[in-house]
Amino acid sequence: MKNLELDLGERSYPIFIARDLLAKSELWSKYIAGRQVCIVTNDTIAPLYLDKLIAQLGDKSICQVVLPDGEAYKTLGTLDRIFDTLLEKNHNRSTTLIALGGGVVGDMCGFAAACYQRGVQFIQIPSTLLSMVDSSVGGKTGVNHPLGKNMIGAFHQPNCVVADLSLLDTLPDREFSAGMAEVIKYGLICDAPFFEWLEKNIAGLMRRDADLLEEAVYRSCVNKAEVVADDEREGGRRAILNLGHTFGHAIETAEGYGNWLHGEAVAAGTVLAMALSVELGWLSSDILARGKMLLQLAGLPIAPPENMDVDQFLHLMGRDKKVLDGRLRLVLLKGLGESVVTSDASVDVIGKVLRTAGVRA
Ligand code: NAD
Ligand code: GLY
Repeated sequence: MKNLELDLGERSYPIFIARDLLAKSELWSKYIAGRQVCIVTNDTIAPLYLDKLIAQLGDKSICQVVLPDGEAYKTLGTLDRIFDTLLEKNHNRSTTLIALGGGVVGDMCGFAAACYQRGVQFIQIPSTLLSMVDSSVGGKTGVNHPLGKNMIGAFHQPNCVVADLSLLDTLPDREFSAGMAEVIKYGLICDAPFFEWLEKNIAGLMRRDADLLEEAVYRSCVNKAEVVADDEREGGRRAILNLGHTFGHAIETAEGYGNWLHGEAVAAGTVLAMALSVELGWLSSDILARGKMLLQLAGLPIAPPENMDVDQFLHLMGRDKKVLDGRLRLVLLKGLGESVVTSDASVDVIGKVLRTAGVRA
């Protein structure tokens, strides 16, 4: 088992990483504040793990909200189902919400916890690779709006994160690959030795070797925790975690939420961000080639969708949260493990890189 702490002063919390953690409630049940618990999950995960979780909760007063599965349901409308249940069951301010699921469930449950009675406590039990290495850690919560991804939300930190690696046994390969996009991201933005470790171990990781997986989730969480501890509310440095995301969010919005998985869009977006870094003379084409190879070996797309055009890309990128005072701020690389947040790339250069990547003019 590997544990770490996200250091946020009195709001610090532990991240537990191991197989079979769901059954080890002696580790995490102390992070449930009162007697009331509301488990938020979805209709894919509930039949797999909901009973196992409930069995660990002893004499707690438990209610459950089983949401429809999918990014398309990550909306304000779906959120009401959580509030309806909490109110119907008379949950008070000492209730604890438990997110049992991937990033969609985690983001929605966390946002419900941030809003219900102006804020209650919650625990993250991530069930996808992506949610273990990224979305369950760091307190970003929220929902999509038809005009933009994750546009409605709040920062709200969980009481603890329980990353039970055995939950990944049932995760489809495509979803596993999507999570690898975020794992690889940490190597590219801030941890060159981790990138090199991933290059060496990618075959074993894709076979889901237990020890390699534990190490990859741990090192990803260490990197994320360090960045979040430094800049919790994304005043500056935390934005490096968005490598490839501005391009990726444009892809997700254009293709319809859920058709391209978040991690897939981030992978294609990461290649574009790296190509832009090369175009600006900041990154060697050798590192771009290594990044593309690793993403490809992880089963991820490395080219943008064929049906998008340059104007659509630029328009959707301009709507991203990373636009500041009308300038598009992008995360780019200045070397392996060295990232910058910059407005230096002009729209013309971005357009050129998109066209070179095959996006229609
Ligand atoms: P997801 O939550 O949609 O889960 C992917 C699919 O796998 C779903 O169909 C889900 O039901 C299924 N699933 C989950 N766990 C499973 C398991 N153990 N076995 C079988 N099936 C399982 O997708 P995701 O990739 O986990 O998360 C993507 C979301 O996370 C996006 O909405 C993205 O915006 C968000 N996100 C948030 C942050 C953040 O910091 N808050 C960071 C990155 C991504
Ligand atoms: N996933 C980006 C962040 O947490 O800041």
